[in-house]
Amino acid sequence: MRFYDCLADEASFLDDCLRGLAAPQKALAPKYFYDHLGSQLFEEICTLPEYYPTRTEMAIMEANVAEIARLVGPNVELIELGSGASVKTRLLIERARPALYVPIDIAERQLRSAADEIAALFPWLHICAVRADFTRPLRLPSFMGVPVKLKVVFFPGSTIGNFTPDEAAALLRGVRDMAGTGARLLIGVDLKKDKRTLEAAYDDAQGVTARFNLNLLARINRELGGDFRPERFRHKAFYDEALGRIEMHLESRYAQFVHVGGRRFDFRPGETIHTEISCKYAVEEFQALARRARFEPLRVWTDPDRLFSVHLLIAV
Ligand SMILES: C[S@@+](CC[C@H](N)C(=O)[O-])C[C@H]1O[C@@H](n2cnc3c(N)ncnc32)[C@H](O)[C@@H]1O
Repeated sequence: MRFYDCLADEASFLDDCLRGLAAPQKALAPKYFYDHLGSQLFEEICTLPEYYPTRTEMAIMEANVAEIARLVGPNVELIELGSGASVKTRLLIERARPALYVPIDIAERQLRSAADEIAALFPWLHICAVRADFTRPLRLPSFMGVPVKLKVVFFPGSTIGNFTPDEAAALLRGVRDMAGTGARLLIGVDLKKDKRTLEAAYDDAQGVTARFNLNLLARINRELGGDFRPERFRHKAFYDEALGRIEMHLESRYAQFVHVGGRRFDFRPGETIHTEISCKYAVEEFQALARRARFEPLRVWTDPDRLFSVHLLIAV
């Protein structure tokens, strides 16, 4: 297993944080959720009864793996964006037998341990783990000596929903340009559904999602010397039906101020830091978005309850 650290700018967390907390609607990007504890909390979220996306996407893949493997084909370069624990990928590797696996994630410890586990499970597979921020231009190292037929980009977990439709189209356009004409994109996309199911998935009874959201403040304290008191904030998640998206915020319980990077930030009671969106798409809506990035649909699979979709597209 080879490991490349392509995370260009370590200072960006502080810069983004200072800019985000100074904005009229305070905001922090969801990519900052994923320090080591954040990655662990996300894995716990994946097992919650309310969090249907992980088990549903896995079930769709299990039910259709023979067809997916046939359409993806063997000896490809399998590039995974936001690979996390690489759990769903195991199925794909086992059945499609790519020549090279390139997991890309911002969270170093989880990326390394997931890649090590994949290496132990599939000793015949070449692996190049890349620590990078996929919202920045992707310049992947060239993988000499591994014969590959084509690139297949796997982007599970509905992580694409964390971007507005315009941002998502721009991100996919970058993916398309990196992967080249004829490349395949296999992407998990959460479907629109009733507000109750959606809001429960992002505000579970055990409070794990709340801990995941609040960990961002603790991370700012740990890494940037901030003095947030997380207990003075509450997790808030709601579905905006007009925009078709979940919004997650951290709401200040009181009038208070905090310091980060030597600067003071004031909060009114009820004022929020916007931490995540999760956009939901009808199948045709997502296909239209993908076309903006020059991906044409090949096949789409859903579960019987139509909670989640897995799309296979081709770069044209
Ligand atoms: C919603 S989780 C999905 C994890 C896994 N793929 C799954 O399907 O369960 C998002 C993953 O993307 C990673 N991630 C989030 N933003 C990222 C970024 N800008 N660049 C690289 N990785 C990112 C996180 O560390 C995390 O592993």
